[in-house]
Amino acid sequence: MAGVTGRVPLIAGNWKMNLDHLQAIAFVQKLAWTLKDAGHDYRETEVAIFPPFTDLRSVQTLISADKYEIEFGGQDLSQHDSGAYTGEVSGAFLAALESKYVLIGHSERRSYHAETDEVVAAKVQAALRHKLVPIICVGETAEDLEAFGPSAVPVKQLRDALAGVPADSEIVVAYEPVWAIGSGQAASPEQAEQVAAALRGLLGEVLSPETAAATRILYGGSVKAANIAGFLREPNVDGALVGGASLDLKEFSSIVRFRKHVGA
Ligand code: 13P
Repeated sequence: MAGVTGRVPLIAGNWKMNLDHLQAIAFVQKLAWTLKDAGHDYRETEVAIFPPFTDLRSVQTLISADKYEIEFGGQDLSQHDSGAYTGEVSGAFLAALESKYVLIGHSERRSYHAETDEVVAAKVQAALRHKLVPIICVGETAEDLEAFGPSAVPVKQLRDALAGVPADSEIVVAYEPVWAIGSGQAASPEQAEQVAAALRGLLGEVLSPETAAATRILYGGSVKAANIAGFLREPNVDGALVGGASLDLKEFSSIVRFRKHVGA
């Protein structure tokens, strides 16, 4: 159920470089069964997972054969469609595996693989060319926060990523403060809301007010079952991008079932 905003919350699990394809099959099966037993309604809260590339075919086959409603996508894609780019994975290949989403510009890609805002923008274009919904990740470091305040860096990253994006595009934005990722120190719901509101303002300015109102903005960074409800109570936070806790079946299913904690 979309609630007053019309936006269906999205709980996304970024597995990073964890779980091989056999472990992935076991995990997705258990996740689907656990959510089924709990009576989870996927129209009320969408669930997506982001396994390593080598798992995707197995995950797709399982989800399609057993008709699970869990969505999935890649953790990255090439800005190019095909050709001599050793080690890269095309959006065309992700689309051929029925991926709905693709993560773009995660802070680990930006910092360990030197992805600039220009590269991120080119990857967003590549995703849209292949009808994948880009989940555009933005976020400031602790130093950025000190120097520029809470929303300046994420807003600039999003503005750059949206260069040339058609106004009515379906995208998702993930606000992931770098200082909160894997640190156990999540942002407060108020901090997440402040930046999410600024990001939504930018979407209205650069795309359109309608797209801004329809676009889901996720929070990511040390999300757990114990803190998810606080984030989802905020009017501009429409879900979570979960790292470590997405690898723990009990934690992740409990995060997906956040409405039980909210009491809604
Ligand atoms: P953690 O949930 O482990 O902090 O990771 C967040 C993240 O990077 C998700 O993309």
